[in-house]
Amino acid sequence: MVRVEGVSKIYNEGSDGAFEALSLVDLHISKGEVIVLSGVSGSGKSTLLSLIAGLDKPSFGKVVVDGELISKLPDMHVSLYRAKKVGVIFQHFNLLESLSVEENVVVPLINSRLDMLSITSMAKKSMELSAISHKASQEVKLLSGGEKQRCAIARALVHEPELILCDEPTANLDRANSLKFIDILKSLHDMGKTIVVATHDPLFENLSFVNRVVHMSDGVITNE
Ligand SMILES: Nc1ncnc2c1ncn2[C@@H]1O[C@H](COP(=O)(O)OP(=O)(O)O)[C@@H](O)[C@H]1O
Ligand SMILES: [Mg+2]
Repeated sequence: MVRVEGVSKIYNEGSDGAFEALSLVDLHISKGEVIVLSGVSGSGKSTLLSLIAGLDKPSFGKVVVDGELISKLPDMHVSLYRAKKVGVIFQHFNLLESLSVEENVVVPLINSRLDMLSITSMAKKSMELSAISHKASQEVKLLSGGEKQRCAIARALVHEPELILCDEPTANLDRANSLKFIDILKSLHDMGKTIVVATHDPLFENLSFVNRVVHMSDGVITNE
């Protein structure tokens, strides 16, 4: 489903501060696979996720998702790719604090052509999957950290993306909430989603549903 081929990413290219964050990375991810991307801080995990998500472009090499050359798509088409296929879960939740959970969750659907009834039912489904429906009408600023994260998950999943990218998803969670997050990932895996989790949380080390652990170090994959 995802093919990362010969990808390098140089930040501040052509200046004194030029820095190669990824160097000739190759990674193939099959549909339905769950991959843990591990490595110390600075090893290039977030950079690789952002290239797969289409949030940034590689300096060299290509990123292909379902046959589509994401790394060469113009911005407008990248937005469509993301709206159709990709859900991203970050360490920071980036929620609209004064809106309710449900209002936050429907945000990604606002520009879709869906009618109100479909939007409401998709939001409901996503909140249920993310174990946050009981707080649907609560203002986000009144939620606990774990609940905020589940709200962010519901928002990331509301458009039913096939590819789910998580960047240090448990970095701000306590153990109980991290385990809840892992349960949600397991259900997503059972639904056939393709999942990449960048993390150095040891809780992800021996999960039965993880197909592969890919280690990164200084911008290269060290175990493929
Ligand atoms: N926008 C940027 N400009 C310059 N350097 C960056 C930028 N983003 C990341 N880097 C550098 O690239 C390297 C890899 O970063 P990152 O992909 O965030 O690693 P990780 O997620 O594994 O911690 C780090 O050395 C980081 O400082
Ligand atoms: Mg990172």
